[in-house]
Amino acid sequence: MKSNQRIGRIDYSSDQENESDITIYVEELMDSAYGYYIWPSSLVLSRYVWYHRNSFKNKSVLEVGAGTSLPSLVLTKLEPHPYLIVTDIPSIIPVARSCLKLNGISTTEKNGTFVSSTSNLWVRALEWGDIESINGVDRLVNDICIEWHGRKLDYILGSDTFYDPADFEKLLMTVAYVIHRHNSKCKFVSAYQERSSKRSIQFLLDKWSLQCRLISRDSFEFDEWQFVGDENGDDDHRDDRIDDDVTIPHVKVNSGTLTSVFVLEISAKVPTG
Ligand SMILES: C[S@@+](CC[C@H](N)C(=O)[O-])C[C@H]1O[C@@H](n2cnc3c(N)ncnc32)[C@H](O)[C@@H]1O
Repeated sequence: MKSNQRIGRIDYSSDQENESDITIYVEELMDSAYGYYIWPSSLVLSRYVWYHRNSFKNKSVLEVGAGTSLPSLVLTKLEPHPYLIVTDIPSIIPVARSCLKLNGISTTEKNGTFVSSTSNLWVRALEWGDIESINGVDRLVNDICIEWHGRKLDYILGSDTFYDPADFEKLLMTVAYVIHRHNSKCKFVSAYQERSSKRSIQFLLDKWSLQCRLISRDSFEFDEWQFVGDENGDDDHRDDRIDDDVTIPHVKVNSGTLTSVFVLEISAKVPTG
């Protein structure tokens, strides 16, 4: 393992008798691009996915700005062959592939997309705001129609994708393209870290004919304290091993960072009146 590389684990336990608990392993590279970190939002969104796992059964999902891809990794544990597309900018695609591999899923390159053995899971570049380019949303939607034989995206997931205000409109334009040109019932579920109360996306939602509702963290029983601790991994659970050499700490974040994370559900605007 490189000195700036860190692998962490996150456990999700089920209270159902006929269901197993799951563990996700995630790799981070410190002092690197921001797609290489586990951002607090991804802990919240992945808990949302786990809590609503029955709603995600047999659904088709696109993750945008995936980075270490935590919400997608939860989906891969729920179904052996999920219809799932993990996307980010080209330089972050190796991060997503590496995290999938750490959780037992290999992908191989086919015409510019990395696909799983069943061809239902794709890892590929998607650049927000791009149209008529190799990494544009129009090309992605077109490929979905061809390769998935009419199956449409039901959900878009994005954790901490409202990060740089310069990208907000590009992201919402991409989401709007999927909703208005592909599936009007598709929902974008996004974990949003509030960094400034002056930031608002309302005018962009209006411009792109979208609406938004806030989902409370209590509604999916998010327990902040599960993740609060020493970021260096000094917790009491260092006995689980992926192989003989590596001890895997539980993922922890600094106290307070999760408090400002909200979950939003963005969908097609319903005309009023
Ligand atoms: C703050 S990071 C969040 C990463 C990950 N979702 C998480 O929560 O750990 C923002 C992510 O958005 C991606 N991103 C930024 N601008 C983008 C763009 N124009 N098109 C596609 N992805 C972009 C970055 O590469 C990065 O992975």
